[in-house]
Amino acid sequence: MSIGFNYQHSFIKDHELKFLKPIINEAHIMLHDKKGPGSEFAGWVDLTESYDKDEYERLKIVGEMIKSNAQVLLVIGIGGSYLGSRAVFEALSHSFYNSIDENKRKTPQLYFVGNNLSPKYYKDIFDVIENKEVYVNVISKSGTTTEPAVAFRIIKDHMEKVYGKEETKKRIIATTDKEKGALKTLAQKEGYETFVIPDDVGGRFSVLTPVGLLPLYAVGIDTDKLLQGAHEGAIEYSNPVMEENIAYQYAGIRQILSKKGKDIEILVNYEPGLQYLGEWWKQLYGESEGKDGKGIFPASVNFTADLHSMGQLIQDGKRNIFETSIIIEPDDEDIQVMEDEDNLDGLNYIKGKSLGYINDKAFQGTLLAHVDGNVPNLIITMDKMNEYNIGKLIYFFEKACAISGYVQGVNPFDQPGVEAYKKNMFKLLGKEGY
Ligand code: PA5
Repeated sequence: MSIGFNYQHSFIKDHELKFLKPIINEAHIMLHDKKGPGSEFAGWVDLTESYDKDEYERLKIVGEMIKSNAQVLLVIGIGGSYLGSRAVFEALSHSFYNSIDENKRKTPQLYFVGNNLSPKYYKDIFDVIENKEVYVNVISKSGTTTEPAVAFRIIKDHMEKVYGKEETKKRIIATTDKEKGALKTLAQKEGYETFVIPDDVGGRFSVLTPVGLLPLYAVGIDTDKLLQGAHEGAIEYSNPVMEENIAYQYAGIRQILSKKGKDIEILVNYEPGLQYLGEWWKQLYGESEGKDGKGIFPASVNFTADLHSMGQLIQDGKRNIFETSIIIEPDDEDIQVMEDEDNLDGLNYIKGKSLGYINDKAFQGTLLAHVDGNVPNLIITMDKMNEYNIGKLIYFFEKACAISGYVQGVNPFDQPGVEAYKKNMFKLLGKEGY
């Protein structure tokens, strides 16, 4: 199985999960029949089948154009309009993608902007793009979010000074709503190439739409395989039988743990490339479940690094947390620890062992310690970190999130809290009508 799940270290007994079976079944029906709260945003459920095939072919043509012409691709977006593509990019690209030689990389450098309001960040980005062929993918579903809108104005102004207005228009691709919002209006007026974020797919569920697919294609990720993995997930995790559906088991166990006072879920990885998957996952679960005075606080850690900072608290602090670890099977082409004649570092006892093997022992040692410290542990396994599995994992988390939200009793597809901050900011900045 490419993605696996086990909860043998969760301290949950099988009968506890069985009690949830009718509720999970009800949640499944609400989601699939599109009858639950927020169902107008449940378009992602069958997106891997229903996506616009013509648009996807055009996306590949534009992606090829970026690959051939750009040295730097700037992706402007925030929240759901950037975290998914960043998560997949970081998981599947070279760890030092932007720094390696152009000839080895073969595809443009990729930088994410529009996700903060730091003057320093923008000054520094100008250093990065100096004398480079720059293309921009500006992404905003609403088309009105302040951070990406400000970033776009700054970057566009810079590009117009460098390339002139007409050439700049050819280098900008807008991904936004099909008919409304300031970005759509601007794109129409300027004649930008445009891709659509479907009406029925919310920002945090949009990674498998052009939001994620265009930038990922442009940096050489096999988006066909990503979609194929997600599609496999869509089939496998649409099984209403909880005992046969690991996404539903994960959803149920989370809710049982939450009822037992485990208010914080920590997503653990042992692979630096998965750090941004944690960031994407935090938005997905935080925005979907954190409402009506309910929710599990989603946190993430990168082990083994964070064992040396957060390990103490997890092992020995307040017992209100549980962990979900993503574990990847060791690679065949792994690096081995060599023998050293002097053995001054005392490491000869692991000579010939691979880094993956040692990493796996770090996981097992940590699991033993944390379970010993009464931290329930859920384990998600992946046989390889590739496009197919990451696509399937994305769908696993999305499906589990929707079911978990319905079991918890919230609308998992709205985000009134985010809208509140956006409106306050408009008011404070003096925007008309606020
Ligand atoms: O999930 C959401 O809807 C939000 O977090 C959005 O993704 C985020 O606020 C960005 O919004 P937009 O794409 O409209 O600029």
